[in-house]
Amino acid sequence: MEVVIVPSAEDGGRLVGGAIADLLTGNPAAVLGLATGSTPLPLYDDLVRRHTEDGLSFAKATGFALDEYVGLPDNHPESYRAVIKREIADRVDFQPSSVHGPDGWSSDIKAASIAYDDAIAAAGGIDLQILGVGTDGHIGFNEPISSLASPTRIKTLTDQTREDNARFFDDDLSQVPTHVLTQGVGTILRARHLVLLAWGANKAEAIRATVEGPVTSMIPSTALQLHPHATIVCDEAAASELANAAHYKWTYEHKPAWQGL
Ligand code: GLP
Repeated sequence: MEVVIVPSAEDGGRLVGGAIADLLTGNPAAVLGLATGSTPLPLYDDLVRRHTEDGLSFAKATGFALDEYVGLPDNHPESYRAVIKREIADRVDFQPSSVHGPDGWSSDIKAASIAYDDAIAAAGGIDLQILGVGTDGHIGFNEPISSLASPTRIKTLTDQTREDNARFFDDDLSQVPTHVLTQGVGTILRARHLVLLAWGANKAEAIRATVEGPVTSMIPSTALQLHPHATIVCDEAAASELANAAHYKWTYEHKPAWQGL
């Protein structure tokens, strides 16, 4: 695991944007794992800038969203299908047919779950998976006690996550769905590079546990410790509970340039 502590979310967005640009330059048909929430927005802004100013193209790339609510109306603006389209896919030149998400509207959720993992595998797997983290350490929507080997499947949200996400639903908890379809922790661990972003003091405890705590399904983000190429990019506030922050900074400052992110 590598921890990169950046001065601001914008700096983090630029750093990871550069890594994605390098990936797409080397392989224009790369497969990206896309995340929702407020955390990836500075990264998406950076990718849009690289697209408009530098000509970075997503035309041959494929995107897979991490998760989706179950039970929202088809055209709901806060469905993750709509969010991914609005925040990144429509702002660059992704082919609409190349951006996928779990089908939270399926009448057969179990079959839709299996089909989603199959589609990721058929695309050759995810090259770089963008992740945020919930305050309880969830990744995607893998809430505490998610199996660390889990496939894409239905999950029930905790009260904490529903309260955290109520801001996207007019601060009305009753509008926040109780169920979701999410890439499993096992699905996420199959991506070739995991990049988890975190900004702000309300993520400090989750980041401490992810980096320095024991691996436990009670905090699904700790599964990143099992991955051979996991990068945590966080700001100073999110890094504020890390015991060894000074060492991570020194390590990154002295990293051989050829290693990339
Ligand atoms: C949701 C998403 C996660 C995201 C988390 C954090 O629960 N399913 O993928 O990481 O929210 O959200 P935010 O980035 O807004 O803090």
